[in-house]
Amino acid sequence: MGHRVRKAVFPVGGMGTRFLPATKAMPKEMLPVVDKPLIQYAVEEAAAAGVEHFIFVTGRGKNALEDHFDYAPELERMLEERHKDEALDAVRRFMPRSGQISYTRQTEPLGLGHAVWCARHLVGGEPFAVILPDDLILADEPVLKQMTDVYDPLGGNLVAVQDVPREHTFRYGILDIETDDGKLAKAKGLVEKPKPADAPSTLSIIGRYILDPVVFSPLGRRMIGAGNEIQLTDALATTLAVVPFHGLRFEGVRFDCGDKVGFLQANVAFALHRPDLADDVRAALRDLVC
Ligand code: UTP
Repeated sequence: MGHRVRKAVFPVGGMGTRFLPATKAMPKEMLPVVDKPLIQYAVEEAAAAGVEHFIFVTGRGKNALEDHFDYAPELERMLEERHKDEALDAVRRFMPRSGQISYTRQTEPLGLGHAVWCARHLVGGEPFAVILPDDLILADEPVLKQMTDVYDPLGGNLVAVQDVPREHTFRYGILDIETDDGKLAKAKGLVEKPKPADAPSTLSIIGRYILDPVVFSPLGRRMIGAGNEIQLTDALATTLAVVPFHGLRFEGVRFDCGDKVGFLQANVAFALHRPDLADDVRAALRDLVC
């Protein structure tokens, strides 16, 4: 089997406080960019990389997510009767098959590391992907596919990385670099959310991971880190002696859809990339800002 990545974990148990009141009754991963919820972009990206099993770690708002990835017979019948072929296609185009999606519940939002740990029994003993749906990336080749393409000879842990302005290091997990060929960096250390002055580099982790299951052991120790949360980065740092850790500088533009401005920017950028919308959106934006 080598290092084939067959499973992906989608941690969707966060509080989404930055999007209240929109996220009061609905998880932020159901927020649409143009006309598709963030979670669907994430699931489609995983499928494009060959993932066959989708594992959701949910919190509140589970029903909306489950319903989104289920058949909607009444809606589909109505669309069929009214000959709304395009709408019907949009509803049916991506539908995982029965048994391809599993849900587990993070009963308390104790942090990203805790959310990933909650998926341990569903993941088992093989390398797996983690996708944070609020990191949305506009790319010709889906970023997880870029990662699976280089993962096989590397093994261990591989994350998507990008250089950020030094004043922003406190928002990210940052790599302490051992070697760097400009595309792939090998880390000898990791720090979660360091102050700019303390950051060992400006190379930061974006929400795409391929992880060795060895990470479940330190995650089980429930170390409390930055923001009083159980951080995935801290657990990964403890595995550095056991498995290699690489960061891949991906091709694409990343939008932080957990942030209002990033989310709005993503909507504009994705709309401008849609042949059916680009001209009208460009004209509408011109009207607004001129
Ligand atoms: P964020 O740090 O963006 O936190 O989580 P959040 O709670 O979702 O949003 P804000 O800051 O309150 O607005 C990063 C990712 O980790 C998941 C989130 O769902 C998101 O995909 N997460 C975070 C969990 O699944 N569980 C947690 O306990 C924390």
